[in-house]
Amino acid sequence: MKDEIIDVWSQRSQSYSKVVQGGMASTYESRGWQEIFTEAMGPGKHKVLDVGTGPGVVAFLLAQLGHEVTAVDLSEGMLTEARQNAVKYGLDIRFEKGDAENLPFPDCSYDIVVSKYVLWTVPDPEKALSEWHRVVRPGGKVIYVDGNWTTDLESSWWRRRWRDAARLSIAFSERHHSPGGRKDFSDRVGEMLWSTHADRPAQDLDMMGKAGFENISTVHISNRRVLKGMRYFKHGYWKGNFLVSGTKASGPSEKRMGEGQ
Ligand SMILES: C[S@@+](CC[C@H](N)C(=O)[O-])C[C@H]1O[C@@H](n2cnc3c(N)ncnc32)[C@H](O)[C@@H]1O
Repeated sequence: MKDEIIDVWSQRSQSYSKVVQGGMASTYESRGWQEIFTEAMGPGKHKVLDVGTGPGVVAFLLAQLGHEVTAVDLSEGMLTEARQNAVKYGLDIRFEKGDAENLPFPDCSYDIVVSKYVLWTVPDPEKALSEWHRVVRPGGKVIYVDGNWTTDLESSWWRRRWRDAARLSIAFSERHHSPGGRKDFSDRVGEMLWSTHADRPAQDLDMMGKAGFENISTVHISNRRVLKGMRYFKHGYWKGNFLVSGTKASGPSEKRMGEGQ
């Protein structure tokens, strides 16, 4: 199943990268996402891992803010796009091949793990979250953004019509522009994806708890916060996104250091 999922992402990598570049060209959109992540990350400069970076958008936006960013994806096609985009934007980011469910990094090696539009498409989200928990240092955070890509459309006639109109209005090269949806995959894989039938973000909060996080919370992100004008028309037909965050408990030594301060 995972191979088929990653093949689909590789096939979509060039068109997806074009959409990402459109977003990077929009100051409104770039600043919107930078503010959203900064609010969740808190002040300071951090060592950040972007999981499922795709063409690199979150990695770029955080590197522009001065964070030290490493980014992984399992799709070679996406990594090729990400590396080309990094040259284009003049940003120094380490892009590596890596599986969200089995990360190629030691324990506690990052301050913060971020991820956008990825968890819905991994076969075993609980395994992924426990991996993200493993690589974050005690006191560090996992912050991810996702959406209800299947249910938003299935539950709303007018959103489906809006999507159809948006797709009609854009060139074929941009057609596969959405972050997700089971329709991108075969019926068999779409049906097997956990997110197709999930109650999100309620289920995310539950999974974050099982993975061992503390201070777990979620916030709704209105599409209006990151999209306007034609970008809103083309990409805004979802109900919006949700951001989930949680903190890894501080280890005993760190607690002791804090107690003395
Ligand atoms: C919808 S794209 C999101 C890309 C980017 N994060 C963004 O915000 O636009 C989903 C990405 O997740 C990647 N992905 C899916 N499953 C993965 C896995 N198991 N490990 C690493 N990356 C994965 C895909 O290759 C794809 O690049």
